[in-house]
Amino acid sequence: MQAPTTTRVFLAIELGDAARTLLADQIHRLARELPSARWVQPESLHLTLAFLGEIDDEQLSAAKAASASAARSAAPFQLEVAGLGSFGPARAPRVIWAGVRGDLQALQHVQQRLARELEQRGFPREERMFSPHLTLARLRQPTPEADLSRIIEALRAPSQATAPIPVEHLSVMKSELARPNARYTRLATYALGSPASDTIH
Ligand code: 2AM
Repeated sequence: MQAPTTTRVFLAIELGDAARTLLADQIHRLARELPSARWVQPESLHLTLAFLGEIDDEQLSAAKAASASAARSAAPFQLEVAGLGSFGPARAPRVIWAGVRGDLQALQHVQQRLARELEQRGFPREERMFSPHLTLARLRQPTPEADLSRIIEALRAPSQATAPIPVEHLSVMKSELARPNARYTRLATYALGSPASDTIH
Protein backbone atom coordinates (compact mmCIF):
# COMPACT_ATOMS: atom_id res chain seq x y z
CA MET A 1 0.00 0.00 0.00
CA GLN A 2 1.26 3.48 -0.82
CA ALA A 3 2.08 5.82 2.06
CA PRO A 4 -0.45 8.67 2.28
CA THR A 5 0.85 11.92 0.83
CA THR A 6 1.45 14.68 3.31
CA THR A 7 1.75 18.44 3.07
CA ARG A 8 3.78 20.73 5.30
CA VAL A 9 1.27 23.31 6.46
CA PHE A 10 1.10 26.47 8.54
CA LEU A 11 -1.65 29.01 9.14
CA ALA A 12 -0.78 32.65 8.71
CA ILE A 13 -1.70 36.25 8.12
CA GLU A 14 -0.35 37.41 4.77
CA LEU A 15 1.05 40.90 4.34
CA GLY A 16 -0.10 43.63 2.00
CA ASP A 17 2.10 45.64 -0.34
CA ALA A 18 2.93 48.45 2.13
CA ALA A 19 4.39 46.12 4.77
CA ARG A 20 6.13 43.99 2.15
CA THR A 21 7.78 47.02 0.57
CA LEU A 22 9.02 48.37 3.90
CA LEU A 23 10.36 44.97 4.95
CA ALA A 24 11.98 44.42 1.56
CA ASP A 25 13.89 47.69 2.14
CA GLN A 26 14.92 46.59 5.62
CA ILE A 27 16.02 43.18 4.36
CA HIS A 28 18.03 44.86 1.63
CA ARG A 29 19.73 47.16 4.18
CA LEU A 30 20.43 44.40 6.73
CA ALA A 31 21.58 41.89 4.13
CA ARG A 32 24.46 44.21 3.32
CA GLU A 33 25.60 43.82 6.95
CA LEU A 34 25.05 40.09 7.07
CA PRO A 35 25.22 38.47 3.65
CA SER A 36 25.86 35.05 5.20
CA ALA A 37 22.33 34.82 6.65
CA ARG A 38 19.43 33.23 4.76
CA TRP A 39 17.22 36.26 4.05
CA VAL A 40 13.54 35.67 3.40
CA GLN A 41 12.24 36.67 -0.03
CA PRO A 42 9.83 39.61 0.47
CA GLU A 43 7.00 37.69 -1.23
CA SER A 44 7.37 34.95 1.40
CA LEU A 45 6.97 37.24 4.43
CA HIS A 46 4.00 36.37 6.65
CA LEU A 47 2.85 36.26 10.28
CA THR A 48 2.48 32.64 11.40
CA LEU A 49 -0.39 31.83 13.76
CA ALA A 50 0.07 28.05 13.87
CA PHE A 51 2.57 25.59 12.43
CA LEU A 52 1.09 22.15 11.76
CA GLY A 53 4.02 20.35 10.15
CA GLU A 54 3.44 17.41 7.78
CA ILE A 55 -0.24 16.52 7.66
CA ASP A 56 -2.40 14.21 5.53
CA ASP A 57 -5.38 15.22 3.37
CA GLU A 58 -7.92 14.58 6.09
CA GLN A 59 -5.98 16.77 8.52
CA LEU A 60 -5.65 19.42 5.82
CA SER A 61 -9.45 19.52 5.49
CA ALA A 62 -9.69 19.82 9.28
CA ALA A 63 -7.11 22.64 9.29
CA LYS A 64 -9.14 24.48 6.64
CA ALA A 65 -12.32 24.04 8.68
CA ALA A 66 -10.55 25.32 11.82
CA SER A 67 -9.27 28.36 9.91
CA ALA A 68 -12.69 29.10 8.43
CA SER A 69 -14.29 28.90 11.84
CA ALA A 70 -11.66 31.09 13.55
CA ALA A 71 -11.88 33.64 10.71
CA ARG A 72 -15.67 33.79 11.04
CA SER A 73 -15.36 34.53 14.75
CA ALA A 74 -13.18 37.64 14.31
CA ALA A 75 -13.70 41.05 12.75
CA PRO A 76 -10.96 42.58 10.56
CA PHE A 77 -8.35 44.56 12.50
CA GLN A 78 -5.15 46.56 11.99
CA LEU A 79 -1.57 45.82 12.83
CA GLU A 80 1.57 47.59 11.75
CA VAL A 81 5.19 46.66 11.31
CA ALA A 82 7.27 47.98 14.19
CA GLY A 83 10.89 47.46 15.14
CA LEU A 84 13.39 44.69 14.73
CA GLY A 85 14.57 41.96 17.08
CA SER A 86 16.20 38.56 17.25
CA PHE A 87 15.58 35.14 18.78
CA GLY A 88 18.35 33.20 20.42
CA PRO A 89 21.23 34.30 22.62
CA ALA A 90 22.30 37.94 22.08
CA ARG A 91 25.77 36.78 20.94
CA ALA A 92 24.43 33.98 18.76
CA PRO A 93 21.04 35.00 17.33
CA ARG A 94 19.25 32.35 15.25
CA VAL A 95 16.51 34.49 13.72
CA ILE A 96 16.12 38.17 12.88
CA TRP A 97 12.55 39.38 12.87
CA ALA A 98 10.39 42.46 12.50
CA GLY A 99 7.82 43.07 15.22
CA VAL A 100 4.18 44.06 15.02
CA ARG A 101 2.07 46.49 17.05
CA GLY A 102 -1.47 47.81 16.77
CA ASP A 103 -4.49 45.76 17.78
CA LEU A 104 -2.48 43.00 19.47
CA GLN A 105 -5.52 42.04 21.53
CA ALA A 106 -7.45 41.17 18.37
CA LEU A 107 -4.41 39.24 17.14
CA GLN A 108 -4.18 37.24 20.39
CA HIS A 109 -7.90 36.61 20.23
CA VAL A 110 -7.89 35.17 16.73
CA GLN A 111 -4.72 33.13 17.40
CA GLN A 112 -6.25 31.63 20.57
CA ARG A 113 -9.49 30.89 18.79
CA LEU A 114 -7.57 29.18 15.99
CA ALA A 115 -5.59 27.14 18.55
CA ARG A 116 -8.86 25.98 20.16
CA GLU A 117 -10.43 25.10 16.82
CA LEU A 118 -7.33 23.07 15.91
CA GLU A 119 -7.28 21.28 19.25
CA GLN A 120 -10.94 20.34 18.89
CA ARG A 121 -10.02 18.71 15.58
CA GLY A 122 -7.26 16.60 17.09
CA PHE A 123 -4.17 18.72 16.48
CA PRO A 124 -1.70 18.72 19.39
CA ARG A 125 -1.61 21.89 21.44
CA GLU A 126 1.37 24.19 20.84
CA GLU A 127 3.12 24.50 24.21
CA ARG A 128 5.22 27.51 23.26
CA MET A 129 3.75 30.93 23.89
CA PHE A 130 2.59 32.78 20.81
CA SER A 131 5.20 35.39 20.03
CA PRO A 132 4.06 37.34 16.95
CA HIS A 133 6.89 38.14 14.56
CA LEU A 134 7.81 38.39 10.88
CA THR A 135 10.93 36.34 10.22
CA LEU A 136 13.37 38.28 8.04
CA ALA A 137 16.39 35.99 8.22
CA ARG A 138 17.70 32.74 9.63
CA LEU A 139 21.35 32.83 10.65
CA ARG A 140 23.89 30.16 9.98
CA GLN A 141 25.57 28.81 13.11
CA PRO A 142 28.08 29.75 14.18
CA THR A 143 27.75 33.24 12.72
CA PRO A 144 31.16 34.79 12.00
CA GLU A 145 32.14 37.24 14.77
CA ALA A 146 32.57 40.18 12.38
CA ASP A 147 29.08 39.65 10.91
CA LEU A 148 27.66 39.42 14.42
CA SER A 149 28.99 42.77 15.58
CA ARG A 150 27.61 44.43 12.46
CA ILE A 151 24.18 42.89 12.82
CA ILE A 152 23.96 43.71 16.53
CA GLU A 153 24.71 47.36 15.66
CA ALA A 154 22.16 47.35 12.85
CA LEU A 155 19.45 45.90 15.10
CA ARG A 156 20.21 48.49 17.77
CA ALA A 157 19.77 51.43 15.40
CA PRO A 158 16.33 52.93 16.14
CA SER A 159 13.92 52.74 13.24
CA GLN A 160 10.82 54.89 12.99
CA ALA A 161 9.80 53.11 9.81
CA THR A 162 6.38 51.57 9.99
CA ALA A 163 3.75 50.26 7.59
CA PRO A 164 0.15 49.14 8.08
CA ILE A 165 -0.92 45.49 8.00
CA PRO A 166 -4.66 45.34 7.44
CA VAL A 167 -5.70 41.91 8.73
CA GLU A 168 -8.68 40.72 6.73
CA HIS A 169 -7.94 37.05 6.04
CA LEU A 170 -6.47 33.89 7.56
CA SER A 171 -4.55 31.76 5.10
CA VAL A 172 -3.69 28.08 4.97
CA MET A 173 -0.17 27.89 3.58
CA LYS A 174 1.88 25.05 2.14
CA SER A 175 5.62 25.04 2.78
CA GLU A 176 8.02 23.19 0.52
CA LEU A 177 11.50 22.88 1.91
CA ALA A 178 14.07 24.16 -0.52
CA ARG A 179 17.45 25.86 -0.43
CA PRO A 180 18.20 28.63 0.23
CA ASN A 181 14.61 29.29 1.32
CA ALA A 182 11.40 27.31 1.71
CA ARG A 183 8.70 27.99 -0.90
CA TYR A 184 5.27 28.98 0.39
CA THR A 185 1.99 28.63 -1.50
CA ARG A 186 -1.47 29.67 -0.37
CA LEU A 187 -3.88 26.70 -0.31
CA ALA A 188 -6.93 28.58 0.98
CA THR A 189 -7.80 31.90 2.56
CA TYR A 190 -10.78 32.88 4.70
CA ALA A 191 -12.18 36.37 5.19
CA LEU A 192 -12.41 37.55 8.80
CA GLY A 193 -15.95 38.12 9.99
CA SER A 194 -17.47 36.58 6.93
CA PRO A 195 -20.71 34.66 7.71
CA ALA A 196 -19.95 31.93 5.16
CA SER A 197 -16.69 30.00 5.13
CA ASP A 198 -15.59 32.31 2.42
CA THR A 199 -12.60 31.06 0.53
CA ILE A 200 -11.35 33.28 -2.27
CA HIS A 201 -8.97 30.63 -3.60
P1 2AM B 1 9.46 31.29 11.85
O1 2AM B 1 9.03 32.38 10.91
O2 2AM B 1 9.61 31.76 13.24
O3 2AM B 1 10.60 30.48 11.33
C1 2AM B 1 6.77 28.16 7.98
O4 2AM B 1 7.88 27.41 8.31
C2 2AM B 1 6.36 29.05 9.11
O5 2AM B 1 6.02 28.24 10.24
C3 2AM B 1 7.44 29.99 9.57
O6 2AM B 1 6.86 31.27 9.76
C4 2AM B 1 7.92 29.42 10.88
O7 2AM B 1 8.21 30.32 11.88
C5 2AM B 1 6.70 28.70 11.38
N1 2AM B 1 7.08 27.61 12.31
C6 2AM B 1 6.73 27.53 13.61
N2 2AM B 1 7.22 26.41 14.16
C7 2AM B 1 7.94 25.78 13.21
C8 2AM B 1 8.69 24.59 13.18
N3 2AM B 1 8.79 23.77 14.25
N4 2AM B 1 9.32 24.26 12.04
C9 2AM B 1 9.22 25.06 10.95
N5 2AM B 1 8.50 26.19 10.91
C10 2AM B 1 7.86 26.56 12.02
